[in-house]
Amino acid sequence: MTNTVFLITAALLALGVCTATAAEIHPQRQAELFYLLKHDCGSCHGMRLEGGLGPALTAKRLAPYGSEFLALTIIQGRPGTPMPPWRPFITEQEALWLAGQLKQGVNQ
Ligand code: HEC
Repeated sequence: MTNTVFLITAALLALGVCTATAAEIHPQRQAELFYLLKHDCGSCHGMRLEGGLGPALTAKRLAPYGSEFLALTIIQGRPGTPMPPWRPFITEQEALWLAGQLKQGVNQ
């Protein structure tokens, strides 16, 4: 248990360090990430991310959650739920960027 807490803290710290460079994602990669969001994430979270098999990812619904927490969910998935880990496809920095986009409101 203590180990898990440590690992989560370490992961949050690592993501925190990435925050500084989140703005440096190349515009072409940003477009790819938006495509991923619409097509892959959208298959579960709804085409307009208003919910489906997965919960809505609207700015309003995500307001109570921090970007780091959401990025960690995207990177690691939620074991025991259909939410898969996206680590094989995107970096932690990109997950943080995506979380920021969601919190700002995509499609709204
Ligand atoms: C196979 C279906 C599926 C796909 C594909 C999927 N998700 Fe999820 N996602 C879920 C489910 C189900 C949950 C709710 C998990 C739970 O019960 O805690 C979830 C939860 C989340 C959460 C946390 C929301 C909250 O309210 O706690 C975020 C953020 C998220 N997904 C982002 C994404 C992103 C970004 C992508 C694409 C890169 C994606 N998801 C792709 C099924 C999916």
